[in-house]
Amino acid sequence: MSSIIWEVNRFKNEVGVRAASADHDTDEMKKAESFHKSMPGYDRTPLAELKNLSDVLGLGSIYVKDESERFGLNAFKGLGASYAMAKYFAGRLDIELADFTFDELLGRIPGHPPVIFSTATDGNHGKGVAWASELFKQKSRVYMPEGTADSRLDAVLEYGAGGAVTEMNYEDTVEYVREISRKNGWVHIQDTSWEGYTELPMYIMQGYMTIIAEIEGQLQGRRLSGVSHIILQAGVGSFAGAMAAAVYNLTDGRPPHIIVVEPQRADCLHRSAKSEDGRPVRVHGSLDSMMAGLSCGAPNPADWEILKSVADGFASCADSISATGMRILGNPAGEDSKVISGESGALPLGFLYEVMTNEEYGNLKEELGLDAGSSVLTISTEGDTDPVNYRSVVWGERTGTDKMDGGKYMTEIKGE
Ligand SMILES: Cc1ncc(COP(=O)(O)O)c(C=O)c1O
Repeated sequence: MSSIIWEVNRFKNEVGVRAASADHDTDEMKKAESFHKSMPGYDRTPLAELKNLSDVLGLGSIYVKDESERFGLNAFKGLGASYAMAKYFAGRLDIELADFTFDELLGRIPGHPPVIFSTATDGNHGKGVAWASELFKQKSRVYMPEGTADSRLDAVLEYGAGGAVTEMNYEDTVEYVREISRKNGWVHIQDTSWEGYTELPMYIMQGYMTIIAEIEGQLQGRRLSGVSHIILQAGVGSFAGAMAAAVYNLTDGRPPHIIVVEPQRADCLHRSAKSEDGRPVRVHGSLDSMMAGLSCGAPNPADWEILKSVADGFASCADSISATGMRILGNPAGEDSKVISGESGALPLGFLYEVMTNEEYGNLKEELGLDAGSSVLTISTEGDTDPVNYRSVVWGERTGTDKMDGGKYMTEIKGE
């Protein structure tokens, strides 16, 4: 079986451009960035240009945004959780968030009784929720799917959350949290949407758009309109959808080629693109991939619509592709900056390398127009969030087709 299975997006431009919605326009992007800038610990994350690698691969330029440095969380997800909480409180207080900094908002939020924010997570979003809850002086409950590495649960407990690893896959864990949140009156803050639950996920996506706002500034003279390809990794697709929509709006509807990459065992967007009618397709089963952040079986319907309207296509990728990306980013060519990129962070770069170097993908390279004139943007969305697996990939020979013996299953709640 090939390590990359490509599906061209037959629906592109046929379904109207959902990416153009006002929810993701440049104004909303700037509001999110401005709020984040007022938060404690905010710093723009680095954008590295890998000049030597682009020479090796025969490309014009390659950029990697390093989200491992985001708020000290080792992943980008805190952007979404913090912005959604801020919007939630602004709604409760009936104020316009854009008029408030983080400190001003915090000053208005009643301390008692605390709001309990709950979520299901592969790890990174839950850490973002736990961290943001602590910053807003509230509480959180975080549940993780079966097989989650202990280090991910520990990372959440550090921020004062209650947490547990369930014996269910990601989607079933989301259902479970939905149910217990309803029973307990918790505020379920999930990074995917479903019928009747769209507002908080949309705020989360708006929070992610800060990444694009920063990149636009960091590219200086070139700006995003000078980028020819952007490769985006997807779990449920909220991140990729938010990035695609922000880029679409920022480039006045003339975005670069947008390529979406997913793990083969959780390639729900790839399968949706393959479907006859273009409706979201859910992948069932254990979704077993070392790319924990991307191991999601059901597309976020709102984001699927965005990606369907603007993406060039969807690549279903073996874990080994991500392993290649992790090794290259951690052991850069020549003077290129080193980027510690975890399993879900490195898939786009691994995909790029494979397509440029493996003859098997010569046609795909041509179809995508990847050549010496190309300027490619990738976002490394996490650092070594599973340090044990990171080391075994980068130091060892692990290619990650099966999961590490990471998590112990727990039914009792830890922490709090
Ligand atoms: C590091 C990392 N990258 C990418 C993603 C993908 O985000 P989404 O599920 O919105 O597609 C996740 C999701 O948890 C993640 O943790």
